[in-house]
Amino acid sequence: MDRFENDSFYYKENKLYCEGVGLDYLAEKYGTPLYVYSRHFFEERFKEFNNAFSEIEHKIFFAVKSNFNINVIKIFHNLGAGLDVNSAGEFYRAVKAGGNPQEMILTGVGKTAEEIQLGLKENLMLIKAESFDEVLLINEIAGKLGKVAPLAIRVNPDVDAETHPYISTGLSENKFGINSADAFDAFKEASKMKDIRLTGIDMHIGSQITSVSPYVEAVDKLAEDFFKLKAEGIELEHFDIGGGMGIRYKDEEPFTPKELAKALIPTLKKLNCQIMFEPGRFLTANGGALITKVLYNKSNGKKHFVVVDAAMNDLLRPSLYKAYHYVQPVIIGDAGTHIADVVGPVCESGDYIAKQREMPIVENGALLAVMSAGAYGMVMASNYNGRRRPAELLVNGEKFYVARPRETYEHLLYDEKLVIK
Ligand code: LLP
Repeated sequence: MDRFENDSFYYKENKLYCEGVGLDYLAEKYGTPLYVYSRHFFEERFKEFNNAFSEIEHKIFFAVKSNFNINVIKIFHNLGAGLDVNSAGEFYRAVKAGGNPQEMILTGVGKTAEEIQLGLKENLMLIKAESFDEVLLINEIAGKLGKVAPLAIRVNPDVDAETHPYISTGLSENKFGINSADAFDAFKEASKMKDIRLTGIDMHIGSQITSVSPYVEAVDKLAEDFFKLKAEGIELEHFDIGGGMGIRYKDEEPFTPKELAKALIPTLKKLNCQIMFEPGRFLTANGGALITKVLYNKSNGKKHFVVVDAAMNDLLRPSLYKAYHYVQPVIIGDAGTHIADVVGPVCESGDYIAKQREMPIVENGALLAVMSAGAYGMVMASNYNGRRRPAELLVNGEKFYVARPRETYEHLLYDEKLVIK
């Protein structure tokens, strides 16, 4: 039976571990569903990416949206990462994690005036504009605050990242960035604005990209703009490649950071400026697993269902993108295999973790690990069906910490009040 393992999540004597801790022990102690993260994984991935680009001046901004637990943010901050925050809420978390606003970038296609104001007041390293209207608004707000806004413009290079349509962002049909044809003029106009200091050019062409060619194509396009701007006297301090580096969920064979570096460095060197990256998934996805317990087995003659205690509200990716995550036993048994759907308790047919999956026959009460859940897992969790969001645990060698406890029923209400008599 095919199973997912790496240096951090591995089997020893038929039991799945995260680093030095048995996942059955953690599930027993903290209950399920339970997110478990490996600190070691996060650190090693960061170093691998960082080292691959050591030849050039660069900085990695961890995309907080992929995993916003403040401990996870802190791990990357401690390693020297800047932080890519997509909203005031992510900024709030990043600050709580100990992040330094001057090493944060504010991204997002629909920032509100309040968010722009916050970004300026808190002196973030830069704000990224995704439309000309936004450039105008940033200039206006900066003027009112008596500040000069450090601004990067996100260009949509119209390149096919060959990924799921919901997570492709660099095509002209996608809502992101200013399209290539208009970008040059946008930069020129922005450069004349009194309260803007143009600092960079930016792209982010999609997520879970598994080949280097879309990056090469997009970087080449943006590099052209970069030099055209330079010829006009607009010198930029940085060139931001965005995130999107793909990982293995199933049988993908994604490029390594070294391979990406090899393909891009010749062009990047010519730019002679700081190169920025915003990886999220690459750093976090395979450093997390969602542990869930089997509640029931049932068959209807046509199909077998394994009903587990994790649902689409805990991990939305299968329901939303038909995403594949390995689902494997925490304790390997010898009951044989069958084809089953792994489904959650939420009252939606779309609530599933795995479909038509060949998997071991598991008894009620058995524990399953849903792998590659460290990115876009907990951050996309909701309280749908009145479900409390799972706990998050961080493992560090033989030690482990509750990075966030399971929500209580009080959390579900927050300060909702009964106003109807
Ligand atoms: N920078 C920007 C501007 C982004 O929009 C994103 C992700 C990233 C960086 C980080 O991308 P990454 O390296 O993680 O691919 N929920 C989807 C993924 C959505 C990605 C959104 N933007 C999923 O579960 O697959």
